[in-house]
Amino acid sequence: MNDLHLQYLKLKIGIDAAVLDVLKGGQYINGTEVNQFSEELADYLNVRHVIPCANGTDAIQLALMALNLKPGDEVITTAFSFFATAEAIAILGLIPVFADIDPISFNIDPKSVESLITSKTRCILPVHLFGQAASMPELVNLANKHQLFIVEDVAQSLGTNALIENTEKKLGTIGHIGCTSFFPTKNLGCFGDGGAVMTNDSELAIKIKMLAVHGSKQPYRHEIIGLNSRLDTIQAAILRVKLPYLNGFIIERQKIAEAYIKELNSIDDFIVPEISGIANHSFNQFTIRIKNGLRDELKDYLSQKGISSKVYYPVPLDQQVAMQEFMKGRAICSEADKTSKEVLSLPIYPGLPNENIQHIVHTIQTYFKASI
Ligand SMILES: Cc1ncc(COP(=O)(O)O)c(C=O)c1O
Repeated sequence: MNDLHLQYLKLKIGIDAAVLDVLKGGQYINGTEVNQFSEELADYLNVRHVIPCANGTDAIQLALMALNLKPGDEVITTAFSFFATAEAIAILGLIPVFADIDPISFNIDPKSVESLITSKTRCILPVHLFGQAASMPELVNLANKHQLFIVEDVAQSLGTNALIENTEKKLGTIGHIGCTSFFPTKNLGCFGDGGAVMTNDSELAIKIKMLAVHGSKQPYRHEIIGLNSRLDTIQAAILRVKLPYLNGFIIERQKIAEAYIKELNSIDDFIVPEISGIANHSFNQFTIRIKNGLRDELKDYLSQKGISSKVYYPVPLDQQVAMQEFMKGRAICSEADKTSKEVLSLPIYPGLPNENIQHIVHTIQTYFKASI
């Protein structure tokens, strides 16, 4: 699905030098690299504050901790995402309430969100899944109308733009707080775990910063209960080398997606992503839908031909065993359920050779010709 070593080779000289500098410098926790990365990412995103942390799951947890929510408060999120999104809500004693998705974009459906708002709802937590923007204008309207917070999970979409009131904004900077991951396969990945929280609200930024270092502003003075969630200095140094390439990486992903769409568009039973404009999708994943129960058979066929593919996600969040305590008296999200049975993600990453793309396309075309 990925070739992370290829990305390392492309930037080897810069990365090797940056890592060696950290090793020689002797500062292995925090320090200049972390501070500079945080400023450079804030500049790139055009957001006031970026607080680096240990991973994307912590980023969501820190964001929710900063909002002064009480146990039992409800957070509406999508039923179709990686488990971390819902886990970060539940671990704080908050109630994840799962909204259904739009079957075309796979993103949270604002109409479903609206139907779930109660007097206990405090926050909407959209995920910009697979690289594509969720319907932020509608979600912002809902949040304003009902005085709710918006925490964006931008783990799969860092660097993607959305048009908000005729202005291009980076995803993660539209709601009150954005959360991202630098897991190696993300749009901007480090060589281990890493994450960040972003916000334009200076008070929230101060609180998130404290929360990430055991609730303290000064050493050994702890004002609130927090976490130990730091981005490693080595990872910050690597991310500083990679950040200037992020737009280029995204353009490469978009070109691969365009090639897939062009070649595979005409196959019946096979639905390529329908997008609201290529600029609004960074294709962290290229996820197709396969109708008529053929998904698993196609996946096996690809595997026999040496092609990896993955099902993101085979079980929606509202059907995960660990989430059943929150589902009492609630129906499952039917679009998320159908989607989980039909989706398949194909390899997409910067540097994916054109021959591989052609081989994948040809193999899929051959499968569908044979199955007619
Ligand atoms: C949508 C989403 N949210 C949150 C996370 C959690 O990020 P991390 O693995 O860095 O904790 C991920 C990671 O895969 C993700 O895809």
